[in-house]
Amino acid sequence: MMDKVIGTLNGMPFTMGETLLELSYLIAALLFVYGLKLLSHPETARRGNFLAGGGMVLGMITTLLLHKNDAGGGIPMANVWIILAAIGVGSAVGWIIARKIKMTAMPQLVSFYNATGGAASMLVALLEFPNADMSNWGSVLVTLLGMIIGAVAFSGSMIAYGKLDGKVGDIRSGMAKYVNLLLMTGTFGLAVYMMLSGHTPEELSWAIYLLMALSLLYGVMFVMPIGGADMPVVISLLNSFTGIAAAMAGFIYHNQAMILGGILVGAAGTILTVLMCKAMNRSLLNVIIGAFGGGGAAAGDGDQGVMKEINLSDASILLSYSQSVVIVPGYGLAVAQAQHVCHELDTLLSSKGVNVRYAIHPVAGRMPGHMNVLLAEADVPYNQLVEMETINPDMPNTDVVVVIGANDVVNPAAITDPSSPIAGMPIIKAFEAKNIIVMKRGRGKGYAGIENELFFGEKTRLLFGNAKDSLQNLVNEIKSL
Ligand code: TAP
Repeated sequence: MMDKVIGTLNGMPFTMGETLLELSYLIAALLFVYGLKLLSHPETARRGNFLAGGGMVLGMITTLLLHKNDAGGGIPMANVWIILAAIGVGSAVGWIIARKIKMTAMPQLVSFYNATGGAASMLVALLEFPNADMSNWGSVLVTLLGMIIGAVAFSGSMIAYGKLDGKVGDIRSGMAKYVNLLLMTGTFGLAVYMMLSGHTPEELSWAIYLLMALSLLYGVMFVMPIGGADMPVVISLLNSFTGIAAAMAGFIYHNQAMILGGILVGAAGTILTVLMCKAMNRSLLNVIIGAFGGGGAAAGDGDQGVMKEINLSDASILLSYSQSVVIVPGYGLAVAQAQHVCHELDTLLSSKGVNVRYAIHPVAGRMPGHMNVLLAEADVPYNQLVEMETINPDMPNTDVVVVIGANDVVNPAAITDPSSPIAGMPIIKAFEAKNIIVMKRGRGKGYAGIENELFFGEKTRLLFGNAKDSLQNLVNEIKSL
């Protein structure tokens, strides 16, 4: 029935099975696109994820059942079992990790998954290179690009994972830029040689392994010097690499669903990279060469003076009798899992007639959209979240800015100290508000590892403690006023 020829395409017979397979890819592609659209809003994101995942499952099932090789044979049964076993093991491991992972370790997990996507594309290219038709430049090009981009995404994401997890430090050396340029030239030079040499894939088997090694090394070297506040750019760039590598693997197999899925991830990652570059005021070229960044503990270090404390009673009076309050959430809010009690504070203040808004910095936290996701989890209305550019002009008229577990994103050194590792990065101008209350546990620094003069400022007072406890105590105190 499935082998029944129902028409011809470019002179080739087209069977019922092939028609159903292509149709399922089209449906999968539509589910990817619609799922991605739903992912753009916290309220619909869960459904979007489910639909896009459904598209992926559909593509996998129909490929297993209906795929035919050039000779017209299906996937051998032994291979089907191996594939099913691999899917079973992968799904079980993924499910266990995702259930166990702490919310704050989510950025690491995303980097790790990104690495596995890159590795898969790299392995596809490695396995398929021996079958490449060297006279068909297009097909050799996608195989080599799949190898290079997949390998860079894999090793780069593993280093990013280590850095986000605090297991890998930064290498800060002026030489890194030149080493990276050399590695990049060597990698692409070798790829061009492989395409033009006129050798068979068999004769070039040494070269494909060398290409893989160079690309893996470049991935490591390109992420190693990037550190501190610049990590968001590199994470989104690696994300786009994984998408592009998957699209290349799709070209190798002429698989429409893979091509489209890869292009969607690649395009989304690229747009995010451009937005992150804008948010960090960095140029993309610098990121690719790996020339900027560095944890930069030097600038802004040293004893800046005394941090003035505020007690609960004064903080609650100050907030309750304000007209306008801006909350700046940061990584510490996620660590403390204080989003729910934070929302309780904002509703309590709003019920007293205070205008409460949240200022969202694009790189606050440890992953793109981290604060949006965190606050959505606590049902903070989306219209209360205001982007940095929109809220900054209102800062001088704001009675109190409450900085909750944020540090780098409110650090004035980005504006005042050209030697700072975060110099030039746009910040939320909390320092312009009439009063600043900062909630943090102690003298801990932010991700960039530098001191923050805002915490020592005239108008700033600190409410020390774990953000969740401080917020809960504050809510209780305001209720008792
Ligand atoms: P950070 O600069 O990392 O500062 C977090 C602050 O929270 C610390 O100063 C810490 O001080 C405090 N804190 C930690 N746990 C806390 C808790 N339980 N209760 C109260 N306070 C707590 O955060 P940020 O301002 O959100 O900036 C984000 C940084 O991460 C930027 O440098 C950004 O470039 C980088 N980054 C972002 C991403 C993405 S994509 N968003 C990815 C990688 C890196 P104490 O220790 O004194 O409490």
